[in-house]
Amino acid sequence: MAVKNNPLSSIEVAGPIPAHLARSVIEASLRNAILDGRLPCGTAIRQQALATLFGVSRMPVREALRQLEAQGLLQTVQHKGAVVAPLIEDDALETYELRLLLETQALRLSLPLLSEEDFEVAAGYIEALEVETDWSRMGTLNRQFHQALYCKAPNKKLLALIDEGLIEEERFLRFNLEQMNLGKLSQDDHRALLRHARARDIEACIKELELHLHRGVKAITHYLDKQKPKQP
Ligand code: NI
Repeated sequence: MAVKNNPLSSIEVAGPIPAHLARSVIEASLRNAILDGRLPCGTAIRQQALATLFGVSRMPVREALRQLEAQGLLQTVQHKGAVVAPLIEDDALETYELRLLLETQALRLSLPLLSEEDFEVAAGYIEALEVETDWSRMGTLNRQFHQALYCKAPNKKLLALIDEGLIEEERFLRFNLEQMNLGKLSQDDHRALLRHARARDIEACIKELELHLHRGVKAITHYLDKQKPKQP
């Protein structure tokens, strides 16, 4: 009988994990494996197999899976348990509309509180994006750039919701930036965003963010159209 290919075998565990770190280690390991495609869409994620792999009880595993589900990386399917979510859902456009609301609000709250150091950090991500050739790293740098601009918003719940949206986008971008040739276009947007932010021009900054996110909407619309069967 053929040995069944175990999708979890792509996850490396470096020695025993202290109990208090278990949840975050499991969450980060799974997130990376999902984001870089080692765990493809539809892969069933078994709690017991993970607990055994990491040498922990099922409790931190359950908590890690719950986090990943909130980030849109996992879904619960009846009779199957947690599975890796599809790359993009039909409701992706609604997700973008929500992001637009949340991120413009965060920008509005954060911008007056940003310091010169924050701007330097943001500028650093733009520079890093410029020389980065690895598409998955680019997805991460894009997320970090945006987070750098929102980070001073005092509403932590708002920031947590935004993080979920950005992580979801990061995953989509990893697979699609290259095809869509979005890399350079986004960089022009990023530079304009930072320029307006430095000038403390909230309205111009928000307008630029809207344009930037609308590019994402267009890319996703295009992607979803391509997925549809061709009309005769
Ligand atoms: Ni961006």
